[in-house]
Amino acid sequence: MNIVDTGSKFILRIDNALDDKICDEIRSFAENSPTFLNCVGNMPESKILSFGSEIYTFNNKISRTISAYKFMLSQIIYKYFDKIVYPDSTEMMYFFPGANLGWHPDSHPFDVDSTPPIPNTQYHRTISTVFYINDDYGGGETVIRTEPWTDDFIRKVKQTNPKNLNEAAYNLGHEISIDSEYVSKPKKGSVIIFDSRCYHKANPNWGNRITLPTWFGEDPRVCEFFKN
Ligand SMILES: [Fe+2]
Repeated sequence: MNIVDTGSKFILRIDNALDDKICDEIRSFAENSPTFLNCVGNMPESKILSFGSEIYTFNNKISRTISAYKFMLSQIIYKYFDKIVYPDSTEMMYFFPGANLGWHPDSHPFDVDSTPPIPNTQYHRTISTVFYINDDYGGGETVIRTEPWTDDFIRKVKQTNPKNLNEAAYNLGHEISIDSEYVSKPKKGSVIIFDSRCYHKANPNWGNRITLPTWFGEDPRVCEFFKN
């Protein structure tokens, strides 16, 4: 396991966080799952297959390894980001050739009031992580702004569409001037960890790209260990 300095205090990368063998086992689980097999001839328009809760049916060894990995990430996040966090959800995502994700943050302030009293896990994220299960494809880089959204952005959102701040925040994302970006090249067994307020995107991939993102929040009530 080695920590890579990205040059931004909001982004950290760890190479060789999990070994190749476990990556191959996760991939094999994905490619033999009903979700994957059912999509043959029925490809989602986005070309991205999300496994949702199916990953909680991983076999015991894989699920224990992934739990241990998430505890490890929590420790690393505490050390490098000075935040106590809990994993709020984990997904496995299968990007077929030509898939991509546009610019978006995983967290912005306008969602916060929308779902009391238990926060909606999707919008109470503090730290985002993307684990690369394979790297036998081209493209698919995770591109991350090196700083989170700013007060200027918040002001602009409020001016643009005061009636639907949530939507305005997402729509404005791609218009924001991108001063500085970190480009994370997928590497099997590596993970990119970043502040959920940073806008990010995934470049188109050639070949099948498989990732295991986990989002972390600071409220223990959203911890996925208590939900699943
Ligand atoms: Fe994201």
